[in-house]
Amino acid sequence: MSRQRTYSAVAMSVVAAIVAVLSIGGVGQSLFSEHDGTLISTAKAAEKNSSVADASQLFSPVAAVLRHPRCMNCHPRDDRPRQGDDRHPHLQNIVRGEDEMGFVNGRCTACHRDENSQHSGVPGAPTWHLAPLSMGWQGLGDAELCATLIDKEKNGGKDIAALVEHMTKDPLVLWGWTPGGDRTPVTPPHPQFVKELTAWADAGAPCPATAK
Ligand code: HEC
Ligand code: HEC
Repeated sequence: MSRQRTYSAVAMSVVAAIVAVLSIGGVGQSLFSEHDGTLISTAKAAEKNSSVADASQLFSPVAAVLRHPRCMNCHPRDDRPRQGDDRHPHLQNIVRGEDEMGFVNGRCTACHRDENSQHSGVPGAPTWHLAPLSMGWQGLGDAELCATLIDKEKNGGKDIAALVEHMTKDPLVLWGWTPGGDRTPVTPPHPQFVKELTAWADAGAPCPATAK
């Protein structure tokens, strides 16, 4: 609960800062919807600068979740799954193998079952395996992360609706909020994330400009 309060307090002050900058810059009037914390700039269509700001603002909560260790540990840009909040390489020399399911002596599902094991502490969800290399996100900045995410050549042919669907329902994604043991669950709560994700998708899934 208090985590959620802190989150929205931070979000509110970020929004307040942006509103302040926009009005000082005379970019145009902005409407702030208290309801879901999104900033709607009325000058959006006319002002290129403000739409760039919108893109980073809309994508940033999505990026924050993709970068959570619970997600990132399965989305490396090399062949090693990671473990823990410090993202250390998976112990036992586990590697992706040809089908993302590990090698003969280290098949993911030999240890990872359909649910978290209370007994051994091994995390689990149906079809536990590593995200393909094309879906590797580790170390990407917001612009690149966003471009990779929406690229159908890389994301398994998903359009924006399918991406939202995946992040709303996929068991490996949902596992991030109930990771078992003393693992840190993904924040914010899943329903709030889906709202933020939908706000970005509804705006046409804009990607932030590449950092200068
Ligand atoms: C156990 C490993 C695992 C975990 C944990 C995991 N993923 Fe994935 N992810 C995968 C695999 C495997 C695929 C490919 C699945 C497919 O193509 O159907 C994938 C695909 C995706 C895709 C679509 C591909 C793309 O690049 O757009 C998205 C989005 C995604 N995951 C988001 C997440 C998020 C968000 C989390 C954390 C809340 C997460 N994943 C946690 C294994 C994982
Ligand atoms: C020999 C058993 C074993 C095999 C095989 C195995 N794992 Fe694991 N895995 C574990 C154990 C045990 C943990 C928990 C370690 C911990 O919490 O300290 C773990 C944790 C993880 C985590 C960390 C979750 C997190 O966010 O902390 C990921 C991701 C993961 N495994 C992916 C895989 C993938 C992908 C494969 C197959 C390519 C695989 N594992 C194969 C035993 C195994």
